[in-house]
Amino acid sequence: MKNIAIICGGDSGEYDISIKSGRVVGAHLDRSKYKGWLLEVKGNEWFYEHTEGQKHVVDKNDFSLNVEGDHIRFDGVFNAIHGTPGEDGKIQGYLDMLGIPYTSCGVDSSALSFNKHLCNKFISAYGISVANSVTFRKGEKINPEEVIDTLGLPLFVKPARSGSSVGVSKVHTADRFDEAVQKALAEDEQVLIEEFIAGRELACGLVNKGEELIVFPLTEIISKKDFFDYEAKYTEGMASEVTPASVDADVEQDIKTLSAFLFRQMGCKGFVRFDYILGERGLYFLEVNAIPGITEESLLPQMANAFGMSITELFTIAIDNLFE
Ligand SMILES: Nc1ncnc2c1ncn2[C@@H]1O[C@H](COP(=O)(O)OP(=O)(O)O)[C@@H](O)[C@H]1O
Ligand SMILES: [Mg+2]
Repeated sequence: MKNIAIICGGDSGEYDISIKSGRVVGAHLDRSKYKGWLLEVKGNEWFYEHTEGQKHVVDKNDFSLNVEGDHIRFDGVFNAIHGTPGEDGKIQGYLDMLGIPYTSCGVDSSALSFNKHLCNKFISAYGISVANSVTFRKGEKINPEEVIDTLGLPLFVKPARSGSSVGVSKVHTADRFDEAVQKALAEDEQVLIEEFIAGRELACGLVNKGEELIVFPLTEIISKKDFFDYEAKYTEGMASEVTPASVDADVEQDIKTLSAFLFRQMGCKGFVRFDYILGERGLYFLEVNAIPGITEESLLPQMANAFGMSITELFTIAIDNLFE
């Protein structure tokens, strides 16, 4: 029986979602193979809640726990932290130094995939289309008129490092520009402003099983809001998610081949979701999620399900990878 630390929480606007994800992992873990320990990581406070209110602090020297006289060491980590420090490479660096394996992408692929500006630059180097953009950091001067002249309206303002659409705005008129920038700056000190790409939103999920790469059926996201914002993502009935997506077979194959190529080029691990916009001028890369949502309603479990893989099988593949 292996001890698996399921880490969740984190220090971003996705805290609540991550707590949910962690609980889902705990509930669907294959109990015949693993003993799951749900650990909350928040700032400097890392703990295991044994029974309600009874917190056991993690010993960060060796990532272990003392629970009622037992010293618990972990064979592996199931990473369910969306946002920092779970999706950007930070906790990966810590675990690497301790030699504890984890289910997600490593330090460099996490850091790269989590910064939308850096990731777009990397992806476009392969000749893949990404939205035209400008970026700036807190304190740097930007000229809204110039940006609007360059990118047109509407445009998207987003934190370079965020998720769940937290801090993301679609700006239709120049007078809403500053407000959108402030909202993005509240999440991250770096902001990315992108031209609007009109088209259909498609997602491609993958998981590696050792060296083998399993590519799931595509999902089309149809938001009832102006874009796929936080409300559309997490409110029942605000978006429809169609799996498998109804797209031409050649387009589907292109997206799957491209996602598998990018997974390998970026050195991804575990399950990852690549998002695209299929516009009039072809396919645009939108972003990659190294710690995608994994509640029962989330896209990736839906994709796995359409492939004939249960959520427990998906988690088992990700954990078994650690002990090959
Ligand atoms: N350049 C863009 N053109 C069109 N829609 C966009 C663009 N950027 C973001 N969006 C919309 O905003 C949503 C959130 O943006 P995204 O970059 O995926 O951030 P997050 O990591 O928070 O999900 C997307 O799912 C899409 O609906
Ligand atoms: Mg997204």
